[in-house]
Amino acid sequence: MSVAKKEYKRVTTKSLVDMKKNGEKIAMLTSYDYSMAKIVDGAGIDVILVGDSASNVMAGHETTLPITLDQMIYHATSVVRAINRALVVVDLPFGSYQSDPKEALRSAIRIMKESGGHAVKLEGGKEIKESLKRILNAGIPVMGHLGLTPQSIYKFGTYTVRAKEEAEAEKLKSDAILLERLGCFAIVLEKVPAKLAKEVAESISIPVIGIGAGKGVDGQVLVIHDMLGMTHEFNPRFLRRYADLHKEMTKAFKDYRDDVKSKSFPSDDEQY
Ligand code: KIV
Repeated sequence: MSVAKKEYKRVTTKSLVDMKKNGEKIAMLTSYDYSMAKIVDGAGIDVILVGDSASNVMAGHETTLPITLDQMIYHATSVVRAINRALVVVDLPFGSYQSDPKEALRSAIRIMKESGGHAVKLEGGKEIKESLKRILNAGIPVMGHLGLTPQSIYKFGTYTVRAKEEAEAEKLKSDAILLERLGCFAIVLEKVPAKLAKEVAESISIPVIGIGAGKGVDGQVLVIHDMLGMTHEFNPRFLRRYADLHKEMTKAFKDYRDDVKSKSFPSDDEQY
């Protein structure tokens, strides 16, 4: 059963704002390669995020910090080739926008020009205001990212829920208003109390897409390896698993190994 209120042939930044206006929730997932993105796009997911979580789930790093701009462009290029409908948003990786606004713009331009992605995502609020302005002034659509911002993990020291204290919650609310005022088309809100996330979503007219931010926001995003159950050792409360691919894939690989060892693969029919 389809629950979309309107059919969008291609999802644009404007479609997302319309979805919020019409009360239609936005479905977003990450992807990092052609084959996965083709399935995700074909399933009608509205936004594909080429997240810097590729650093964790594709490259096996402990944090998102090591992934480079060239590597993000490689992932994004593969995803863009697969897409017919979804909006493709690409993370600016750590170190590609924090030092100065000119470098931030250069990094965003490289992503747009070399990958064909449709928008970029940056982590942070007031502290990256000048970089956001430069990128937006160049006509590049920007998705913000507030709350738990994994590129700052060594500052936070932990991946626990953010903005539980009044001062941090107040800063988050004013950062969300600032991002809207600067011209961002949407904001990802990661791991904050549901009540605060709802308040933020109601205070601005651009969509707020949550991950661990409860049901009062305008859409949801999950890392694809997590929702497919491939990262089975990762079990945060917010994660709903839609498949157990770790189990399925392990079984397939074991069956294949057994068939090769027992000489039952290939059969007479599977050879030339
Ligand atoms: O990189 C990523 O996958 C993200 C999501 C967690 C929102 O930023």
